This record gives sequence, structure tokens and C-alpha cells, in this order.
Amino acid sequence: MSETTSDPTSSGAGSDIPVIIHPSAGTTPLGTPRNTAASQYLWGHFTDQSGWAQDRLPTIVRGEGTYIWDSAGRKIFDGLSGLFAVQVGHGREELAQAAAEQARTLPFFPIWGYAHEPAIDLAERIALAAPGDLNHVFFTSGGSEAVESAIKLAKNYWELRGKPTKRKVISREGAYHGTTHGALSLTRIASYREPFYPLVEGAVQVPTPNWYRSEHRFWEDKAAYGQWIADRTEEIIQREGPETIAAIFVEPVQNSGGCFVAPPGYFERLRKIADDNDILLVSDEVICAYGRTGGLFAGPDQGLAHPDIITSAKGLSSGYAPIGAMIVSDRVYDPFVSGENVFRHGYTFAGHPIGAAVALANLDIFEKEALVERVREQGPVFKATLDKLYDIPIVGDVRGSGYFYGIELTRDQATRERFTDEEADRIRAFLNPALYDDGLYVRADDRGDVVVQVAPPLISGPEDFDFIESALRDVFTRVLERI
Ligand SMILES: Cc1ncc(COP(=O)(O)O)c(C=O)c1O
Repeated sequence: MSETTSDPTSSGAGSDIPVIIHPSAGTTPLGTPRNTAASQYLWGHFTDQSGWAQDRLPTIVRGEGTYIWDSAGRKIFDGLSGLFAVQVGHGREELAQAAAEQARTLPFFPIWGYAHEPAIDLAERIALAAPGDLNHVFFTSGGSEAVESAIKLAKNYWELRGKPTKRKVISREGAYHGTTHGALSLTRIASYREPFYPLVEGAVQVPTPNWYRSEHRFWEDKAAYGQWIADRTEEIIQREGPETIAAIFVEPVQNSGGCFVAPPGYFERLRKIADDNDILLVSDEVICAYGRTGGLFAGPDQGLAHPDIITSAKGLSSGYAPIGAMIVSDRVYDPFVSGENVFRHGYTFAGHPIGAAVALANLDIFEKEALVERVREQGPVFKATLDKLYDIPIVGDVRGSGYFYGIELTRDQATRERFTDEEADRIRAFLNPALYDDGLYVRADDRGDVVVQVAPPLISGPEDFDFIESALRDVFTRVLERI
């Protein structure tokens, strides 16, 4: 790992990935009054605002099932589930009903010293479904807040356990854990961080397993690579001083950089390193949980069966209402039970009654339609369909799990040669609009190598996979003409 020291608040190696925020729009002129109003008044997130004025950004007006429609009347397949959220598909009447009923019964009340029924019911349901002894649910409004809460809880926990020097938090190269200052200190994308220094002190970076881009000697042996990467993590912990480290944050499948699935044995080894050094292991499942990778929670299938904390959001309500959840083990919860200590942390809208009611109705749909089982059954079909793309010479690696895949493009399949930076920029700028024009909303990741991320709603099936494959095939083939 190369070291960069430009971040004054972090230790460990820095990520130096250029960021390009591409509008995800087609080339058809949009020119609607709504676009004009958006251009004047709406500040999009991670959005190049000039895109509105140049009429490059679509306004989405409706969703149903696996499709969305834009204001130019185009019907587009939602191949990213909004933003890895809309598990049960758009336009579900049950969820609209749940929100309306809850708004009539109790539209809002905080969970600060009080409870309400949707929050109690949802906490119970999540705790009973969560792996191991993760039995305590701390609600948030979304993913960054869940990560933020986990950072603070880890520090607070060790202080109460008599180890107040444990303040640092570890995350992996290229990872995205959110944008609030604490979560951003864990997010390892240089251009997301640099405008906001100083970040929260004491964030340490370790390598992430990127087997496809690993040294040649590991290409035949993923497990050896996993051990090697975990050993590097151990080295960094020893260098920093284990007595200074509170927690390691990992995603079961790392989204940023392109769906990195951990090599066999890697997470088991990380668990041991965490235990040996009194470090909490946090599984950030903001994307991976709620069926995305083929389990209600993602860790167990990926070798990460026993985290101390899970952070989650997005698919919990299928995105129909903002809600997140930090799920905590008995051990970590224990210091807060006796009445001596209070976790002095919270958010007004956390565990919002409408969000909780919608999440409960969402989990009902999961059960009624056996969505987790569906992803388990259909995930291999999805993978087999995407694997057909290997006959295109620039398709280097198709990786992921369940309904969560990244397709990495390469200059040369045999040598895994990278595109030049200039080529990569050109390819990325072409991909999103071209795919959208073909009726497929997905995303070319702008963080690292050229990877297209695909994560359709969990109700999708083989016909949808075929459509995704054909749109990708068309556009990847045209990329070939541009390099
Ligand atoms: C792994 C992970 N953690 C945290 C977050 C932040 O979640 P939010 O955007 O809801 O704040 C995200 C968002 O995509 C994520 O992917």
C-alpha cells in the first residue's frame, strides 16, 4: 500500500482516487419546466449542478415494480434499486398504506425516554433476526448516522470498560461509510475527504481485499491472498498500538471500488485479530443487509458471522421512508443496562414511527414473498447471466453476491491491464448516459477502477437479468470502439 500523508487527521495509507461525479442521464433533451426549476432551486447530492442547466439530468416522476419513468416519458429499468434500497420494488400499496395508517395514528414521537409501538415492534423483529447475540437496536435516520453512532459507541464502550485510550477506528482502502464527519473519517475516497479536513482524529486505513487487482502470485489462490491482506491489517494494528484502537469497520461485500467479496478465511482471521487485540468488529451492512447479498443480514454468508455491531439502513424500509438501525451485541450493550451509564447520543427522527411502520410492512413483504429465499435461488442465475459478458474482451471480472454485482472492465482480459486514467474517464463519462439511453439505470463507479454496479430490486427475475445483460452488452461493445 502506498502511503500518502496529506490527511492531517488520519494515519495509515491514504486513498488517492480521483473523483468524477457523472450525471446519470441520457442524451435525449429533457427540457421540462421541472428541470428548469431544479436548476434554480434543487441542490442535488454529489451532483454537478451544471447538469440541470445543460439539460443532462433526468427528473424521475414515477416508479412501479422494477421500473421508473422520467419526465421525458422514458421507462427505465431500475438496476440499482434507487440507491441499493428499493428491495421490494416501487409502488407497493402495502407500504403506502402502512405509512398512511401510522401518520393517522401517531405521526411522530421521539424515542428519547419514551417508546412507541412501531419502534418497539421493529426493534424486536430486527433483534430476533440478527445473527448471534446482536439483540439491541439503536435506530437512526439513515446509514451515515448508523456508522456515526457505531464510532461513538465503540469509544464509549471501551472507556466504560476501563480502556479510555482506545479511540481510533479502522476502515479499509477505498471504502465508503458515509459523509458525516465521523463516518467521513472512515470513508477512504480522497476527493470526498480532502475538502473537509480536518476530519475526526484517529482514523486508520488498512488494505481491502481486491483479489482481481492483487499481485500475480495470488491469482490462483484467493485464500492465501485473504490471509496476506489480513496479516497487513494486523501489522498496521501493531504499528498503531492495539491499545489505541476501538473498532474495525468492514462491509461484508465492499461496494465502493466495485463489489469486493472477501476471500475465504479473511473475515474469520479479522475476527481473531479483533479478539486478540480487544477491538470491536463492525459490519457495515447499509447496502448488504435486508436481502441484497442473499441473507437478511449479509455477514454470516460472507464469513463475518459474529460482528459486535451491525450498521444498516436503505433496504430496511425498501427506501420508502428514511430509517437506519445500529444493532448491538449483548457484550457491547452490557455497560448501558445497569443504570450507571447512558449512551448520550441520539437523533430527533431516529426510529420515526412512520419509518418503523413502513419497515415492518416491508419485512412482512419479505416474508410473504420469500424474498431472501428468492435471492438465494435466483442469485446464481443472475451471476450466470452476467457471466455471459465475459465474451466481450474488455469484461475482466464479474464479482459480487446475491443481487449485488460489479463488472470490472479491463484493457486486457489475460493480463488484467488497467485503462489509462484518461481512458477510464472517457469510458465512465460514456457509460452512464449510454446505459440510461438503453433503458437501464445502473452506475459506473467513480471510485477506483472502471466498474459498473448492478443491484436490481429483489423481486427481479431471469427476464430482468436478460434485459440487464443485453443493455450492458450493447454499451460495453460500443466502449470497445472508443478506446
Ligand atoms: C456501506 C455504507 N455505509 C454508510 C452509508 C451511508 O448511508 P446514508 O447515505 O444513508 O447516510 C452508505 C451509503 O451508501 C454505505 O454504502
